[in-house]
Amino acid sequence: MLDLFQGEAAREHLPPISHEELSDEQVIEEMWRIKEELKDKVLVLGHHYQQDDIIQFADLKGDSLKLAQDASSIEKPYIVFCGVHFMAETADILTADDKTVILPDLAAGCSMADMADREEIDSAWDYLTSCTQEKIVPVTYINCAATLKDFVGQHDGSICTSSNAEKVIRWALDQGEKLLFFPDQHLGRNTCYKMGIGLDEMVTYNPNLPNGGLTPEKIQKAKVILWYGYCSVHQGFTAAQVRAIKEKDPETHVIVHPECSFDVVKAADEDGSTAYIINRVNELPAGSKIAIGTEINLVNRLAAAHPDKTITSLSPYQCLCTTMYRVRPRWLLASFRAIKEDKPINVIKVDKKVAAGSKKALDTMLSLS
Ligand code: 13P
Ligand code: SF4
Repeated sequence: MLDLFQGEAAREHLPPISHEELSDEQVIEEMWRIKEELKDKVLVLGHHYQQDDIIQFADLKGDSLKLAQDASSIEKPYIVFCGVHFMAETADILTADDKTVILPDLAAGCSMADMADREEIDSAWDYLTSCTQEKIVPVTYINCAATLKDFVGQHDGSICTSSNAEKVIRWALDQGEKLLFFPDQHLGRNTCYKMGIGLDEMVTYNPNLPNGGLTPEKIQKAKVILWYGYCSVHQGFTAAQVRAIKEKDPETHVIVHPECSFDVVKAADEDGSTAYIINRVNELPAGSKIAIGTEINLVNRLAAAHPDKTITSLSPYQCLCTTMYRVRPRWLLASFRAIKEDKPINVIKVDKKVAAGSKKALDTMLSLS
């Protein structure tokens, strides 16, 4: 079992249902029973990066875009979100007030989402808008806190996912002359480059440097301002890994997620969102050899689902999203038990003031998707 916490944090994060009370097998058995009992009340959503022990309980599976679309039309009173914090917040914003969204483990966050906060974005915006007369349109990747979604809503921008980034960025550049894209520099850079925007038209704003490390002249010249954030999982893949695989077997087809860095995407055969990767694996003919640069739970599941194809991770280090992995059976069962007793735990409720701007920006995204 992978250790995710150490010291004090580990003690605070003991499983809510002990191994003395139930074995791992008994946890799974009780979950199937209780889920059936709660079937009129609870809908379970699961992101593709969840571990097998969890995804088997998902009524609806998807990438970030599909799960946001699904959340907007759920009728049942409880939504148990097997994913990470920003996804559960998004579901809460998109559902009516009488729905309760639950994240089985509140520690399931996203390191990329933590790379930009509202204060930093506000101060970057003040600086950037003071440097140019041109209109800057903000777009945030959905992987961020609700306060940042609220920011783009308030500034007539939009949210995007990796499945619709190109459409949303095109829309943003129709609304103004410049784009501010946060928090993932790679998705922003890879998408803009694909759209024909040169690397020399993009600059990176580093929130750890005074004025983001950018002079007014650099901002005036740039079309795209990228926030200096990244996904710790996808940034683990390297162009050297692509070259090594190609050298060993030039026929191996390499597909990567656009959260990978620019040189990895350039070296790969193709790139696309989680949904895109799944579709491409389905489409490629039997006998194909495919190396995938994305989260390992999904890669392993694709390999198991396609025994007629050789599917491997691009990285020998088996990149795992450790925060997605925090949603485990004992935590999910504790959430189910609490709903059964009408005392839900780990409820995600976005502040109403923040939810208004966020909803506006999410609606813009959904209308463009
Ligand atoms: P998508 O679900 O949009 O492919 O994003 C991947 C991801 O990293 C989710 O956190
Ligand atoms: Fe965040 Fe990356 Fe994990 Fe997605 S895979 S939740 S972007 S750390």
